[in-house]
Amino acid sequence: MIDRNTIEQIMDTARVEEVVGDFVALRKRGVNMIGLCPFHNEKTPSFTVSPAKNLWKCFGCGKGGKPVHFIMEHEQLSYYDALRWLAKKYNIEIRERELTNEEKEQQNLRESLFVVNQYAQQFFTSTLHTTEEGKAIGLNYFRHRGLHDETIERFGLGYSPERRDALATTAVKAGYNADLLAKTGVCYKTDDGGLKDRFWGRCIFPVHTISGKVVAFGGRILQNNPKAAKYVNSPESEIYHKSDHLYGLYFAKQAIMQKDRCILVEGYLDVISMYQAGIKNVVASSGTSLTTGQIKLIHRFTDNVTLLYDGDKAGIKASLRGTDMLLEEGMNINVVLLPDGEDPDSYAQSHSTEEVEEYINRNKVDFIRFKTNLLLDEVGEDPVARANLVGDIVKSIAVIPNEILRSEYIKKCSEMLNVGEQLLVRETAKIRMKRSEELQKRQAGDDAAAAVADADDTTTPQQPAPSEFKQNIIESYSSNPLHNKERAIIQFILRNGDKLVQVPENQAEGTPAFTETVISHLYYSFKDDGVELSHPLYKRIFDEASQYAADVNFNPERHFLAHPDSEVSRLTADLCGERYILSKFFSEQASGEERNEMAILFEQATRLSIAYKHAIIDEMLKDTMAALKDPANTSDAAKVMELMENFKFLKETQQALNNQLQYYGFGSAALNV
Ligand code: CTP
Ligand code: MN
Repeated sequence: MIDRNTIEQIMDTARVEEVVGDFVALRKRGVNMIGLCPFHNEKTPSFTVSPAKNLWKCFGCGKGGKPVHFIMEHEQLSYYDALRWLAKKYNIEIRERELTNEEKEQQNLRESLFVVNQYAQQFFTSTLHTTEEGKAIGLNYFRHRGLHDETIERFGLGYSPERRDALATTAVKAGYNADLLAKTGVCYKTDDGGLKDRFWGRCIFPVHTISGKVVAFGGRILQNNPKAAKYVNSPESEIYHKSDHLYGLYFAKQAIMQKDRCILVEGYLDVISMYQAGIKNVVASSGTSLTTGQIKLIHRFTDNVTLLYDGDKAGIKASLRGTDMLLEEGMNINVVLLPDGEDPDSYAQSHSTEEVEEYINRNKVDFIRFKTNLLLDEVGEDPVARANLVGDIVKSIAVIPNEILRSEYIKKCSEMLNVGEQLLVRETAKIRMKRSEELQKRQAGDDAAAAVADADDTTTPQQPAPSEFKQNIIESYSSNPLHNKERAIIQFILRNGDKLVQVPENQAEGTPAFTETVISHLYYSFKDDGVELSHPLYKRIFDEASQYAADVNFNPERHFLAHPDSEVSRLTADLCGERYILSKFFSEQASGEERNEMAILFEQATRLSIAYKHAIIDEMLKDTMAALKDPANTSDAAKVMELMENFKFLKETQQALNNQLQYYGFGSAALNV
C-alpha cells in the first residue's frame, strides 16, 4: 500500500493535460482543452480537460475525474496500480505505508494469492523447460501443436508433472502456506488432510489479469481420454471471478486499441495460434457464453467485435447466447465462419497473416444478417416457427442503441424474412417502448441529475449519460431524499472544512461568541441532535473529517483526494469538478453588506445543517402520518396517542429550527439542493 504523502505527491505532480494528452489528441478551446472521448464513440468532441482545475470530464458519457482516474479507466488498472503508473511517468519514488491490521489481512490475502499463483506459474514453466518429463511431454506437445518457443514463453505456458503432489510438496518446502495453495486452487486438500495438485499431468495455460498478473490457470490433458475432462480450470477464488476475465486480454489490449476491433474466439489455443500468426487483437471467452462483465472489458478498448467461429454449426447456436448483450452495449458485431473442420487455431497454423486477415475481411457478415440466415435455415417454411424467428430477430434489433443502424437492419431483415418493413418497425418500437418504461420506472425521481451538471463549463452537456459510478450515486440518493443534502454538506466540507467560522453570541442558549472550524461546527451541530448522515460513503467522509476538526494543517480536498480508498478519492474528484451546489443559492444572498468570510461561512454551515435537519424531520413526519393512517394502528388507542405525541414533537422541533434561523437573521430554511 502506498503511503499518503506519496499519493498526495502523485496527485499534485500529475498534470491532467499531460496524462490525458498521452492518449487523446487535445486542442485548446478557451481556458480548457477538448478532444474525442476515448471511453465512448463520438464524432464531435465532448471530452474536456481543465488544466486549471487539473480535471477531465466527458459530457457525452459522464466520466471524469483527476488524472489518476483517467489512468484507471483507460488502462483498466486498480487505484493503486494507476498511482504506480503515474509515479513511474513522473519519476516519483513510492513509499509504502504501514497498514491497519484489518487492511493488512485483506490486502495480504489477495496479495498472497497472487504471490502463490506467481510461484506456481514459475514452477510450471521451469518444469516445462528444465525437467526431463517437462521437456519430453509438455514442451514436445506444445511444439507438436505448432507453437514456437517464443510464443510458449510469451504466454507463460508450463507443465505440471504426473506426480500427484509435485507442486504441493515443492511449494510447501519452499515455505508456501498449504491453506493459501488450496485457496488459489492450484492445490486441493484431500479428506485425510493431504495436499494434492489440481493440474497434475497437464500442460498449463496461465490466465492473466488485464495488468498482467497471473490470476488463474487452465490445464489441458495431453492424451485424448474420453474419461477425463480435456481442460481443468482454477476454481473461483478471492481473486478469481471467471466471469470478469477474458483469456488473452493482457496480450491483446494494445492491438485491440490500435485496430479498433476485438476478435473473439473460444479457446486458449485459438488465441495463442492467432497471436503467433500475427493477429494479436484476439481474446477468448474460454468455452462459456459471454458475460456482461466481459463485454464491458472489451468495450473499454473498442466498439467493434468480430466473432470467429469454427466451421461446424453445432457450437454456433450456443455461442449466440450473450450476443444480444453485445448489441445492447452499442457494439458493432460481425461474424466470421471458418471453413468446415477448421477452428481459429488450425486455420492460423496453416495460413499466413495476410491470408487469415483476408479471410476474415472477405467473410465477415454483420451479426443480424448472420443470425437471420442461421435461423432461417433451421425453420424452413413452417409459418409458426417463422413468426417466432421474426420475434427473435426483432428482439435483437430493438436493443441496438443507434437509431440509424436499427433502421438499416430493419430494412435488411424485411428483405431477408420477406416481412413488411412497417411491421418490423412497429414491433421494434413496441419492444423499445416497453423497455424504456421499465427503465423509467427504475430511474423515477431522478431530479438529482440536474445537480451534477457542471454549470460553469463552456461545453453544454446534452443530457449526459452519467458514468456507472455516478449513476450509482444518483440512484442511491434519488431513492433517499436526504442524500442530496448530504452531498452538498460533503462538498462544502471538502471546500471549506478547514476554514474558520465565527459563531455569534447566543443569548438564548447563553453561549458567547467564538470561532471554530467548519468541520467542528457541523460535527457538534449534528452530534448535539443525534444526527448521522445516512449515505454510507458520505458518512464515512464526514466521520473521518471530524477527526481532523481541530487540525490546522488539515486540507480536506487534498486529504480525501489522496485517500487510500479509491471510492472516496473518486467521489472527491467528482465533487471538486462539479458546480458548487450552494453557489447559486448564496450568490443571491451575497449582495448588500460586506461581511467577513468567517461570518459568511457561519451562515452557510448553519443553513446547510438546519436544512438537513429539516429534511430529516420531514421524512419522520411522513412516516408518522403514514403510521397514523395505517389501519393496523387506528384501532390501538395507545398507539395512536403515541403517534400523535410524536407528531407534535416533530412539529415543535421544526419550529425550533426555524426559530434558530430567525434568530441569526437568516430567513427561511428552504434550501433546495
Ligand atoms: N474448455 C474448458 N473445459 C473443457 C473444455 C473446454 O474450460 N472441458 C474451455 C477452454 O478454455 C478451451 C475452450 O473451452 O480453450 C474451447 O474448448 P475446445 O475448443 O474444446 O478447446 P481448444 O482450446 O480448441 O483446445 P484444443 O485445440 O487443444 O482441443
Ligand atoms: Mn482447438
